[in-house]
Amino acid sequence: MAAFGRVYNFSAGPAVLPIEVLQEAQADLLNYGGSGTSVMEMSHRSKAFEGIIKAAEADLRTLLSIPDNYKVLFLQGGASTQFATLVHNLTAVGDVADYVVTGAWSKKAYEEGLKLGVKANLAAKGDNKSIPAVDGWKLSPDAKFVHYCDNETIGGVEFQEAPEVGDRVLVADMSSNFLSKPVDVSKYGIIYAGAQKNVGPAGVVIAIVRDDLLGNTR
Ligand SMILES: Cc1ncc(COP(=O)(O)O)c(C=O)c1O
Repeated sequence: MAAFGRVYNFSAGPAVLPIEVLQEAQADLLNYGGSGTSVMEMSHRSKAFEGIIKAAEADLRTLLSIPDNYKVLFLQGGASTQFATLVHNLTAVGDVADYVVTGAWSKKAYEEGLKLGVKANLAAKGDNKSIPAVDGWKLSPDAKFVHYCDNETIGGVEFQEAPEVGDRVLVADMSSNFLSKPVDVSKYGIIYAGAQKNVGPAGVVIAIVRDDLLGNTR
């Protein structure tokens, strides 16, 4: 048992937060930064909230050394919504997309692609315990993106580095290892992560998107 009667939580889901973080949040709950309200009571267009979201983005950019040609989006709908969102934003109906399945979550992403009218190509499939050798992946020459999951939360299959996919657009689900290690963002078209395990409240998802991929939504 830790201080304040708190338990240690080693589950793969929402993780332990440092006491100082909780205490700061607790204090801010009554009066955020002298604004006289909590974050839950203020307008999302207020100067106070603008400060919060700008600081969150700036901190994230520093932590991951995010290049200037990437946008940082704080979205709703959790990581699962991104399984569909990225298809809507990167493909037209009939386009080809490559999926690598190394566990339960990348399988869900693949199944969502199948539903949305892309030619979802299963470029490689693992045994839920290991990563199939990247040079054996059957990538399509005309794929609009290659999707994989950087850390399969349930099976624990984690990539140690970004897979080499040539000049294809690499899309990574980093929901359960986001901010746990340095990442070379420039190797990716899109990195997305549900916030609840590593960085914030459930329901928020962070997407880091290269500029040239924006504006092509169906
Ligand atoms: C790797 C991975 N991707 C996607 C999800 C789905 O996230 P959400 O519950 O935010 O939709 C999870 C959730 O546990 C996950 O671990």
